[in-house]
Amino acid sequence: MRLDKFLVDCGVGSRSQVKTFLKKKQVTVNGQVETSPKTQIDENQDQIAFQGQALTHETFVYYLLNKPQGVISATEDARHKTVLDLLDDTARHKQVFPVGRLDIDTHGLLLLTNNGDLAHAMLSPKKHVDKIYQAKVDGIMDQEDILAFEKGIELKDHTCQPAKLEIVSVDRAVGTSLVQITIAEGKFHQVKRMVAACGKEVTELQRLSMGPLSLPNDLEVGAWRRLTEEELEALTAVSYTHLRAHETAA
Ligand code: URA
Repeated sequence: MRLDKFLVDCGVGSRSQVKTFLKKKQVTVNGQVETSPKTQIDENQDQIAFQGQALTHETFVYYLLNKPQGVISATEDARHKTVLDLLDDTARHKQVFPVGRLDIDTHGLLLLTNNGDLAHAMLSPKKHVDKIYQAKVDGIMDQEDILAFEKGIELKDHTCQPAKLEIVSVDRAVGTSLVQITIAEGKFHQVKRMVAACGKEVTELQRLSMGPLSLPNDLEVGAWRRLTEEELEALTAVSYTHLRAHETAA
């Protein structure tokens, strides 16, 4: 591939910025300064460095964000800060997008990638990727609610698949509950609406996990990191199974 495309793909800068960096002799290929954007390189063999730092070519990138409240799960918004504003230039350059949405007032685990196939697999209802949420609830959730979740909550426009409700604690004095809810679907405001169907109200919602990914304890609200190799392998296993199942069905 062309050297300038490789550098742009790596998030070094725009095509014109990259041209300038090349002119300023800030790029080396196998230890030799290279100044022409048109130079052909083999991204799997050649060692490319920018300002002395080795670069690796990645087509797909994967970010795990601890989404804060008040930020929109979208790539652009006229009024609010988006999750993309919290990531780095590479993420924006590579056009990552959130894999599914969290409401503006929900916080917790959000995966972002530019790998459309993987995102599609993770979101496919056929795939049954479990999402675990922790909710603070106004009201006392009880055994009856657990059974209703197991049976499949009826919403106005949708009958939910069986879901798991675990009661972590209740505070009878103030009439609140802390619960964990596992759902495989991702309908609009689903958790809030399921709890509302039981006559109670979610006052705070946090996503703890999505499929094989869990919110790391040491990832502060608003902070992100790239997926580890192990996480990516686990995720790819989920999507690969999905794609294979699809192929078989086709
Ligand atoms: N369910 C909701 O109600 N809100 C979210 O953000 C995610 C799941």
